[in-house]
Amino acid sequence: MQLRQRLATMVRYLGVVVLGTAALGFAAYSLRFGLRGLGIDLSEVTYIYTPGGTFANLAIFGHMILGAAAMVLVPFQLIARIRQRHPWLHRMIGRVIVLASITVAVGGLIYIALRGTIAGPLMDFGFALYGALMLGCAVQALRLARAGDFDRHSAWALRLFVLVMGSLIFRLHYALWFSLTDGLGSNAQLTGPFDQVQYFAFYIPYLAALELWLRRRNSDGRRASLP
Ligand code: HEM
Repeated sequence: MQLRQRLATMVRYLGVVVLGTAALGFAAYSLRFGLRGLGIDLSEVTYIYTPGGTFANLAIFGHMILGAAAMVLVPFQLIARIRQRHPWLHRMIGRVIVLASITVAVGGLIYIALRGTIAGPLMDFGFALYGALMLGCAVQALRLARAGDFDRHSAWALRLFVLVMGSLIFRLHYALWFSLTDGLGSNAQLTGPFDQVQYFAFYIPYLAALELWLRRRNSDGRRASLP
């Protein structure tokens, strides 16, 4: 293997390890937050908790628990060896991810309808669109797999992958921005110019990049299948 190829492979593996570690860390945080929110009164700790609001708390803290599960499971669907050698496992994990994603999206949407986000209407809109897209992609991925249309199933499953990772990407954007600028254009209410861009920037550019990639693959005459 040539040096350039070796370097590219190493960079790819490094990227997977860094992203995987970040995903595991965030999933653990999300799981713990969700379990605590369902188990004890967190009104002193976070504005997200609604005192006496059983339904709102179930929706938002439940979405954190199932979001963590979807985030940990979704990378396994990209592993070709699992899909080829153990299709039953791919199908089983896929069903869990779809069910979790639907519940995450519906939970987030219910919370937005009942409480609204911290920053108000524009953030409500950005996050509601995020939830609606996740819901649509999860339903499409399942529907097309059941119909045996695996090319289109793969494309929708990849969109769902990007959206599940979106929640992590949102936090990674903040971590990077704060380390570079010490939080320029951001505030605690998430109403600064940087925050306003983030309401959409954690999923729209990544979905757009995926669409370009899918189109290129299709125009190359290849299947839009998973890597
Ligand atoms: C894998 C997917 C997801 C995970 C792991 C996840 C996790 C979390 C976590 C841990 C929080 C607590 C805030 C924090 O500590 O940063 C949160 C807040 C929130 N999430 Fe999600 N989430 C996911 C997807 C979604 C989706 C699809 C929606 C939209 C329907 C959504 C809507 C919200 C809302 C509205 C808040 C509260 C925002 C605020 O006002 O501060 N989440 N989420």
